[in-house]
Amino acid sequence: MSFSWQTKGTARDPKSRVGINKKNESARTRMEVCKALKNIVEGGRTIDWIRAEKSEWIATPLHRELIYGTARHYLSLQQSVTELLKKPMRDKDSDLFQLLLVGAYQLKYTGIASYAIINESVNACVVLGKPWAKGVVNAVLRQLQRAAETSQQHSAQGETSAAEQALAAATADHPEWLKDKLKIQYPAEWQTLVIANNQRAPMTLRINTAKVEPAFYKAKLRENDISFSETSMIETIILDTPQNAETLPSWSEGEVAVQDLSAQLASHTLMTMLPPQIAEPSILDACAAPGGKLFHLHERLNARFKNHKLFALDNKKKRLNETKVIGSRLGHSDDPRLTMLCADATMDDCCGNLLFDAILLDAPCSGSGTIRRNPDIRLLLKSGHLTSHQEVQLKLLHNLWRRLKEGGTLLYSTCSIFEEENDHVIEKFISTQAGAKSVALSMKHGRTTLLGWQLLPSSRSTDGFYYAGLTKVKGT
Ligand SMILES: C[S@@+](CC[C@H](N)C(=O)[O-])C[C@H]1O[C@@H](n2cnc3c(N)ncnc32)[C@H](O)[C@@H]1O
Repeated sequence: MSFSWQTKGTARDPKSRVGINKKNESARTRMEVCKALKNIVEGGRTIDWIRAEKSEWIATPLHRELIYGTARHYLSLQQSVTELLKKPMRDKDSDLFQLLLVGAYQLKYTGIASYAIINESVNACVVLGKPWAKGVVNAVLRQLQRAAETSQQHSAQGETSAAEQALAAATADHPEWLKDKLKIQYPAEWQTLVIANNQRAPMTLRINTAKVEPAFYKAKLRENDISFSETSMIETIILDTPQNAETLPSWSEGEVAVQDLSAQLASHTLMTMLPPQIAEPSILDACAAPGGKLFHLHERLNARFKNHKLFALDNKKKRLNETKVIGSRLGHSDDPRLTMLCADATMDDCCGNLLFDAILLDAPCSGSGTIRRNPDIRLLLKSGHLTSHQEVQLKLLHNLWRRLKEGGTLLYSTCSIFEEENDHVIEKFISTQAGAKSVALSMKHGRTTLLGWQLLPSSRSTDGFYYAGLTKVKGT
């Protein structure tokens, strides 16, 4: 059965809150979620942009659940809903299409009673100023509800296994080009990777060792009945159940930060790459905001040196300001050993005359290793973006190389799983930059590549990440 849209009645100003009572609060939440999704799929905005610029659209746990969940399954939901509509939606009614996708997401992936989902979606038509659409929204969602029930029956009768269902669903939630690239670059693992991309990321914490002993903080978590798993790093733990970070013990005192395990490997790796005899290292974090690796590095350096100098560079002033706020909570922003600079790291004069013993280049990239954390990436990323990222990554490497002392080391990283932004960048750089030599890396997670180290999101505890070590040969 399919359903067509007919415009009847008068549209109400969707912004008007007159006549909207408390009962309609969740309908209004739906309207805001629809606006957020429209901005992603039609405006090319990221969820991060929505957080920064339209925080009211993503203000509550319900907003976040609906935005992240619908974005994660957008492509397959889009297909199911489109199949039920007789005519494609008019551009000006794309908010209603988003409304159907949100309802479809809840029917398929949450345990919420279907009558509640359908009622709230129908009410949201009024809040959107399109009461004429109530009938069609009701009819399409009821049809989807029946389809979801039938699929559950088939799986209960053993006609399709849970694993087959998960793979089929995850595959349908990836655009063709992304699936094809995964198949080519990860022929033995692409299925595991698409399934991993559809899962929720774990919540990993970094205990701020400049403030508290890891054992002491772990005891605080236990006292508060917050269970967690240990990892290979003493200050890194994974919560069994994610929770609002602000509700963690001593959050406002800065005893802990949220940071993925893959990202935490940056500081540990850079520490092992510092010349052993060095007493006062001078280090540049060239793409530093919002400071996850920067502050971790500062905490590691603090444990080993009295007088290190750490410079944080980023070309976005707003992001650097946010970095300062985060640093203040952690107790780092006023530390005289830490300097923040706003400059373009592809430009000659980005760091004045400064030379560094070590540089961390956590380069801007596609984020393809973090799709489970940032589900909008699968909707926004295009294959051509990998080439444009590579150009910037090479520019950054060539320019920053001039700021590295002879004998110094550079750690290159991306949160990408694609070779265009990883080994290919390092290969091109080494082949054109005299005196640049690859340094072999080894970590407790992930695996070696031709010129670096790759972590994959298919390991539950890590995001997809790439690291490569370089050293500047003396006398070049
Ligand atoms: C992957 S993010 C860095 C994340 C950060 N290292 C962390 O761990 O929290 C990349 C950063 O590079 C910055 N960036 C992009 N192009 C840049 C350039 N030409 N010069 C300096 N920073 C740049 C972006 O503003 C962004 O903050």
